[in-house]
This record gives sequence, C-alpha cells and structure tokens, in this order.
Amino acid sequence: MNSTNVKMPELAMNCHIKSIHYGDFLAVRDSELPIEKGKITGLIGPSGCGKSTVLRSLNRMNDMVQGFNFEGSIEFMGIDLYEKKIDPVLVRRYIGMVFQQPNPFAMSIYDNVAFGLRLNGFKGNKSDLDQRVEKALRRAALWDSVKDKLQKSGLSLSGGQQQRLCIARAIATEPSVLLMDEPCSALDPIATRKIEALMLELRERFSIVIVTHNMQQAKRIADNTAFFSVDMSGDSHTGHLVEMGKTEQIFENPKHEMTRHYIAGEFS
Ligand SMILES: Nc1ncnc2c1ncn2[C@@H]1O[C@H](COP(=O)(O)OP(=O)(O)O)[C@@H](O)[C@H]1O
Ligand SMILES: [Mg+2]
Repeated sequence: MNSTNVKMPELAMNCHIKSIHYGDFLAVRDSELPIEKGKITGLIGPSGCGKSTVLRSLNRMNDMVQGFNFEGSIEFMGIDLYEKKIDPVLVRRYIGMVFQQPNPFAMSIYDNVAFGLRLNGFKGNKSDLDQRVEKALRRAALWDSVKDKLQKSGLSLSGGQQQRLCIARAIATEPSVLLMDEPCSALDPIATRKIEALMLELRERFSIVIVTHNMQQAKRIADNTAFFSVDMSGDSHTGHLVEMGKTEQIFENPKHEMTRHYIAGEFS
C-alpha cells in the first residue's frame, strides 16, 4: 500500500493504559485509546467494565480518589499528562468534564459559567467576562432562555437546562477536549435529544469523549466507538478495551464475539 494515500486521523489525545488500580484492585488493564480530533468518541460496555474510571483518568479527575494508581501515559499536546511536573488543575482547564447528574453550583447562572474563567485567573474586565459568559451560553444553546435572568440561581433551571449550563461552564475556558460521563442519563428523551444535537455541534471545536450505556445513543452520535468489557474468566472483574473503530464498524461488523454479544443485548 502506498502510505501517502493513507491519511492518519489527527488525534486530540492518545491514551496508553497499562493498568489502573484502586488500592489492590486492578480495575482496568491494557487498553489503547486514540481520541480523534474534532470527533465524538463513545465508550460503551457493561456496568463495572471501567468506562468512568478510564474517562476520569483522561483529565486526572481520579487523582483525588484514595488508592488510585495509573500506569501508562496520556499523550496530549505532545506531553504526558501523568508526568510528575504536570499540575492537575491545569489539565482540567484543557480537558473539561460534564457529569451524569447535572451539578450546577449554588450560585447564579452567570457565576456558574464565569467560575472556571475566574478560577483560571481571567485577566479581562467586566465586559470581557460578560462576553465570554454569553459566548459559552450561546454555544450551549441556552442563551435565549436565560439572558434575562442571569442572576437567578443555576439550580432554578430544569434538568436539561442545568445540564446545558454545566456544558457552558465546561466550555467557557475553551478546553480542547470535553469528557462526558452518561450526561443524559438523568434527562427525559426531549432534553436528551437537545444535548445530543448540541454535542454534534460542539464536537468540531471541542473533541468529545462520552460514556454511554445507551447503545442507540452511541449509534446516533459517536463517530468512533470503543467497547470495553470485563474479564469473564475467574473472578478478577478487570475491565479492558475489547475493540475500537468507526461506530458503523463496531455495530455492523464487530471483530470480536464479545462485542457481537453485547450489541445484540445479550448481556449488560
Ligand atoms: N473510587 C473507587 N474505589 C474503588 N473501586 C472503584 C472506585 N470507582 C470504581 N471502582 C470499581 O472499578 C470498577 C470500574 O468501575 P467504573 O469505572 O465505575 O465502571 P463503569 O463506569 O464502566 O460502570 C468497578 O469494579 C468499580 O466497583
Ligand atoms: Mg460509569
């Protein structure tokens, strides 16, 4: 094959996981996870296979968990995020996160969005900050509903709006990558579709990695899908990547029998 004809996708991150432990427990082993730039990468697999563990390792969110130990490397902008000299707070400025339960802070809608900017020492004046808050709320498709009540509590919004507020908060600092852990699981189908439409709009600017237990959702929005499973033999319960590829390939023509069984709904 002529190598000049093969265009390798540009990566936002490349994750080489050797092992992830919680104390003595080996939660995830041997998984290679390239995260393509400008795309949505979906992480699927049965409960307990380590999807959240892997996701939270990508921005060092698990550092706070006692006994957590990561071996391997997470390449991002030419550096390894697990190098000793790296400041985890700075990591989260570049790799943002949205959680399963919408978790706006008990403060105004405006302050929720400004929070990360202020935390990272935003240098502009009040009108610069106003502009950044507006931009983030517009991108999160929330501006029109909240522009007249920016000083109201973030907690006064509906569940779907709260989740969009959390997305606005996460993207206000212009991260390169957005991590989302089952961001729609607490939402009704209409709010879910709104968040999905939003993700499709945001993916180009903020490469997205989403954990979902909903395979239909992965099919609808993920460009690439990574299927994780748990070791079936013995009682180790260690998770690992079984296969990863374009979403159509994983769903229509999986390489591994385990993937085939999972997407056929034979285990969850
Ligand atoms: N903070 C923690 N301390 C100890 N074990 C944990 C912790 N978080 C998750 N685990 C364990 O790690 C494994 C993977 O969990 P998790 O990443 O939450 O899976 P998933 O998101 O795929 O359901 C599970 O066996 C779980 O019990
Ligand atoms: Mg999880």
